[in-house]
Amino acid sequence: MALVGDSIEVPCLDGTKRRYLGLDAAASTSALPAVAERVAQFLPWYSSVHRGAGYKSRLATAAYEEARAAALEFAGRAPSGAGGGDVAIICRNTTEAINHLAYRLRLAPSDVVVTTVVEHHANLLPWARLCRRRFVECGADGTFDPGAVAEALAADPRPRLLAVTAASNVTGWTPDLARIVALAHERGVPVLADCAQLAAHAPLPTAPDFVAWSGHKMYAPFGAGVLVGPRTAFAEGDPFLAGGGAVDLVDLDEVLWSEPPEREEAGSPNVIGAVALHAAAEQLGAIGWPAIGEHDRRLAERLRRGLSKIDGVRLLGPRAGTATLPLAAFVIEGVPHALVAARLSAEHAIGVRHGCFCAHPYLMRLLQLSAEEISAYRAAVRAGDHRAVPGAVRASAGIDTTEADIDRLLAAVLEIASGDSAPVTYRQDAGSGDYWPEGDAGGWSAGRHGLGPACSPG
Ligand code: ALA
Repeated sequence: MALVGDSIEVPCLDGTKRRYLGLDAAASTSALPAVAERVAQFLPWYSSVHRGAGYKSRLATAAYEEARAAALEFAGRAPSGAGGGDVAIICRNTTEAINHLAYRLRLAPSDVVVTTVVEHHANLLPWARLCRRRFVECGADGTFDPGAVAEALAADPRPRLLAVTAASNVTGWTPDLARIVALAHERGVPVLADCAQLAAHAPLPTAPDFVAWSGHKMYAPFGAGVLVGPRTAFAEGDPFLAGGGAVDLVDLDEVLWSEPPEREEAGSPNVIGAVALHAAAEQLGAIGWPAIGEHDRRLAERLRRGLSKIDGVRLLGPRAGTATLPLAAFVIEGVPHALVAARLSAEHAIGVRHGCFCAHPYLMRLLQLSAEEISAYRAAVRAGDHRAVPGAVRASAGIDTTEADIDRLLAAVLEIASGDSAPVTYRQDAGSGDYWPEGDAGGWSAGRHGLGPACSPG
């Protein structure tokens, strides 16, 4: 199924324009046409939410609350009554959702959250600044067994939470979440599943107590994400953000917070993002998970097998043949990851991500770097030099990707891996680590370099 912008052509160094092949769905997806249409239809009706008596405000408020109900349904949860059940808190994205939860759990510095080295930064850093973390390690293939989770859960002190990914953004590996959640619940430990990657590919798991996901990775790139969890977790105490819309009464020295979910959503909400999320959830439901799963399985197999057959290419994570999301992180021996990504873009009109994918600890393990190598590149980064930052290239597919698209990537990777020389010299920028083709060929003008690094911030 085509997405908005799929037929756009971009300039290549040889002076041609080619159809842009976005293989970066794991970072952000383009909009589904049904999402863009729903947003366009809603825009004339845009108005304040829960803050106006006018017809349009009432309509916008209804659209927002319908989107909230759709988010709960997308997460497989029943709408909650006043006292119990789950609530959907609409926020910006998964990162904000997990920061929100971390604040709301009222963690003491001595509390422990069990998490894993497979997580991306959104599920590592919010815990790091509030409490202690106990990590589940992974093997050389980037996976771990439920038994390793059980061990971490059993150690003292008993953890306050298990925060675990439902699918890795680097390897596409999906842990046995059902088993892991059961182990946590046997020990009385609640679970957050980070569903940022899973949301566009499979039904959200219903067993975890909390789930978080982002609209911009499920074809609704209008700035909304969701945190779902038990109403009781948000019923007491002050919210993550304080401000209007979250209160029933305010005096200069007193505040009476509203009931959740309103208590958790201070400030005017992003109704456009919520409408987009609603439309995306409906559209994915209409396509159906079995069809999406079959599409993903075919693409994952073609991508991972294809890459693993190219001489000089090393696939990170589980070996080809293991079921994963349709994405792959790989290195081409002897060619820096940033140069591979630059060449795919400038010579082939293929957009991928490179670097550490906001998952530095996981990349260090997948690349099997020694302590000396890690400390050397860290010293360079501290000195402002990103040229030697280790990393990989990631190609990730979405609902719009075809097998021909995968073959186009494989052909381009084969060309680079076989040592074909680049048509122009590429220069590396020390501050970002990015490579840029020299000169103005094909519209790749040097004047654009100042717009900011493509991939280096993690
Ligand atoms: N959004 C990040 C990615 O590209 C985590 O995978």
